Amino acid sequence: MMKTNWDRILHGGDYNPDQWIKTKEIWDEDMRMMRLAHINSATVGIFSWSMLEPEEGVYHFDWLDEIMDKLYQNGVSVVLSTPSGARPAWLAQKYPQVLRVGENGVRNEFGIRHNHCLTSPVYREKVRNINRRLAERYHKHPALQLWHVSNEYCGECHCALCQQAFRDWLRKEYGSLDTLNDAWWNGFWSHQITDWSQIHSPKERGEPLVTALRLSWKRFVSDSHLSFFQNEIAPLREWTPEIPVTTNFMKMYDGIDYNKFERYVDIVSWDNYPEWGTGDTAQVAAETAFVHDAFRSMRGGQPFLMMESTPSSINWRDVNKLPQPGMQELSAMQAIAHGSDSVQYFQWRKSRGSHEKYHGAVVDHCGHEHTRVFQEVAHTGAVLERLSAVAGVGYKSRVAVLYDWENDWAIKAFCGFNNQKRDYFGECVKWYKPFYKRGVSVDVVSMEDDFEGYDLIAAPVLYMLKPGTEEKIAAYVRNGGVFVGTYLTGMVDRNDLCFLGGVPAGVLKEVFGVWHEDTDALPADRPGQAVFNGKTYAVRDLCDLIHATDAQVLGAYTQDFYAGTPALTMHHYGQGQAVYAAFCGDDVFADDVCAMLMQQHGIDPDTRIESGDVCVRKRGDYIFVLNFTEKTQHVRLDKTYTDVLTQQHCCGDILLEPCCYRILTAP
Ligand code: GAL
Repeated sequence: MMKTNWDRILHGGDYNPDQWIKTKEIWDEDMRMMRLAHINSATVGIFSWSMLEPEEGVYHFDWLDEIMDKLYQNGVSVVLSTPSGARPAWLAQKYPQVLRVGENGVRNEFGIRHNHCLTSPVYREKVRNINRRLAERYHKHPALQLWHVSNEYCGECHCALCQQAFRDWLRKEYGSLDTLNDAWWNGFWSHQITDWSQIHSPKERGEPLVTALRLSWKRFVSDSHLSFFQNEIAPLREWTPEIPVTTNFMKMYDGIDYNKFERYVDIVSWDNYPEWGTGDTAQVAAETAFVHDAFRSMRGGQPFLMMESTPSSINWRDVNKLPQPGMQELSAMQAIAHGSDSVQYFQWRKSRGSHEKYHGAVVDHCGHEHTRVFQEVAHTGAVLERLSAVAGVGYKSRVAVLYDWENDWAIKAFCGFNNQKRDYFGECVKWYKPFYKRGVSVDVVSMEDDFEGYDLIAAPVLYMLKPGTEEKIAAYVRNGGVFVGTYLTGMVDRNDLCFLGGVPAGVLKEVFGVWHEDTDALPADRPGQAVFNGKTYAVRDLCDLIHATDAQVLGAYTQDFYAGTPALTMHHYGQGQAVYAAFCGDDVFADDVCAMLMQQHGIDPDTRIESGDVCVRKRGDYIFVLNFTEKTQHVRLDKTYTDVLTQQHCCGDILLEPCCYRILTAP
């Protein structure tokens, strides 16, 4: 039986003992300090290929044997990594085809990481081979709990092999050149293709503008990562069918359709690097919460793993501010509250040299445990040991925000209206926040997910519709759902072909009871205005000019030649309701609309705790109260709770300082 939860919260992270192989006394220090820090999981071998196979066909596993045994003896389980993220120099030198070719047609030299061709049969074979050897050797090792496949799959290759693979992929996708020419609207600028070999990946010095080509390339690259992954895991499945596999995702990284990829991993995991300490911390917390919710929702509410996070600062932004004391622990608790079964760091011990030597780590160059960061991590570990009851507990919400990778690609690709300001992720977070900040849990779903069971779905800027989406939305609303759409809803199909006959597409005109005739773009220094419920709102970046054919007009523009026309509408359709928010507003606009809908439809917070600006999130029996604001906050408890960490009862008003949290259970 495959086990994807471990009856405890995993606490650990990237561990690179191979960097310290010549000072093995450090390994023993690591074991001692891991016990102090309540570490129970170590991710090993991510970039170890050249240590494992220093020459072609020559394998050195003894160091890994030793470290696996040591970890096991110290109560630390292993997340064992496959090393394909970075290859040995000998491999690149002997088989140059494994290296990536850039958009400019030039093959990269050996260096960095994530620098491999996704198609190269040689690389795939070499990866399968080293993975097989790892699986063969460790399949019975008692420390092995999970496979970490490669590292943060990303990027693309433009070599001749990839061009050919792209053409083969297109042939399967479209069947004939005639269909492709129609779908890509190739009559434009004399772009008719008469032979598959005329097609190339999109690039500046070639064809960067045909949006359907760009979307196809995105899909192809995403699928290439997936087939690369399937090649990687074949030997793991063969030798360790009971050990789950994952690969670490990155936020809403737009190079891979994670909604599709997640179906092939046994547990979803992601690397979390919020930009604490710069700008608005509460906003960063909301964005991070959204991403956690997206990864939890992918598996119908099942827990995910936070595979990496920094225990301190990072080193790769322009200015790498140290997070405030307590922020690491607060951020860890946020992950748990939103469904993570782990808190893991990059990395355990700071590298001594090279590129990441100043990246935060649990153990600093000073080498001992008497540092603020180490003590904070150790404290977090001790807290997590008291939270093992939440491990494995998932949850679903009554409200969802629709975020879809392919829609993101389509929004980024088109040319028109406002080419400066288009922020799909930002818009999704904007419509997520009104629920999140009131303590209403939210799922993040894609167009393919089941809509049933949600009382309300907000689908900001649902510009592209996959086949069947209009009918799916119509059925959802007809059956009683509340659906919130915004400007640019239902404009194009999956090939970025505009829908004819008026938008939003097809039956959506009936669902919303509106017809969208035009779109205006607003320069940043000349916002427009709209009024709803007697309150004036700024209209920013983009706004649709719509006709309310059947809908009730709730708000109207007050400026420009379209003053007096609808800016916000609501329509009863079947048993449900569809709201059209025709413009991009500030947060307050989304907040007021959602507050109205929550009230009308009885969408209540998950608890009755009055928390103001403090976030409250319930997971199983545990209520997490998290203060991401920069002020001390009052929280009013509606009844007596038990504080999980102190085991004290608490009631009435509690004070929560910045970066502080409470975990409560109801008696
Ligand atoms: C991650 C990566 C790690 C490490 C870390 C530094 O994206 O997976 O290997 O480089 O960034 O923040």
